[in-house]
Amino acid sequence: MTNDPEKTTHFGFRTVDKNDKEAMVAGVFHSVAGKYDLMNDLMSFGIHRAWKRFTIECSGVRRDQRVLDLAGGTGDLTAKFSRLVGESGEVVLADINASMLKVGREKLRNLGIIDNVSYVQANAEALPFPDNYFDCITISFGLRNVTDKDKALRSMFRVLKPGGRLLVLEFSKPMLKPLSKVYDFYSFHVLPRIGDMVTKDPGSYRYLAESIRMHPDQETLKGMMVDAGFDSVNYFNLTGGIVALHRGFKF
Ligand SMILES: C[S@@+](CC[C@H](N)C(=O)[O-])C[C@H]1O[C@@H](n2cnc3c(N)ncnc32)[C@H](O)[C@@H]1O
Repeated sequence: MTNDPEKTTHFGFRTVDKNDKEAMVAGVFHSVAGKYDLMNDLMSFGIHRAWKRFTIECSGVRRDQRVLDLAGGTGDLTAKFSRLVGESGEVVLADINASMLKVGREKLRNLGIIDNVSYVQANAEALPFPDNYFDCITISFGLRNVTDKDKALRSMFRVLKPGGRLLVLEFSKPMLKPLSKVYDFYSFHVLPRIGDMVTKDPGSYRYLAESIRMHPDQETLKGMMVDAGFDSVNYFNLTGGIVALHRGFKF
């Protein structure tokens, strides 16, 4: 593997060739797709539902609007947006991973959510949508996995309408030292064990813990959103900064 920093990136704590990361991330999500929702509830003690509810509250999405749930996976946010935009609105659940999209589509269909949702397999770095198309874009626990985050943010900016907003829900940096210690123990010792018991795949949950530590902190991500063109960028720390919700506008 090359040592050129231009050509390398992180996969958890490992430095890997940029060209290899996408396939490695795909391996993680193909492996966990079937148990993804169960693991989310177990790992977060159900708190991810409150983080997602807060994201919806901050989205300002109304009837008739067009929403992109990017890296939408099993569609938790899509389900909520589908009700908010109503029959004449539109929600696109886009994800790079066919296994996650399949689980998401089946789940939403079983919930009776059909008419105003479409499913698109797409890479966040190169979104296959027209300029100025969506009123709102969310990317929830997805940006961390993207190889070129700046490119992805620019792509989101392009497809957002003027007046539209981007919400990035992602793991971030805990604000208090004692919380960090407990969180570290939980992430590196408890989480992979739960992953092993439920999915027989402790490696994917080790990647989760490592990728969280390598992700830009609150202020760095805010700067990246500003650099991509977003205005009035701010963020809310949730659960002591374990998770942060960043919001930016296109004016
Ligand atoms: C942790 S899951 C989050 C799913 C859902 N948004 C949620 O909050 O439960 C991360 C998702 O990001 C997707 N993903 C990873 N890299 C991506 C990329 N470059 N473009 C689009 N989706 C990507 C994965 O396939 C996976 O479904």
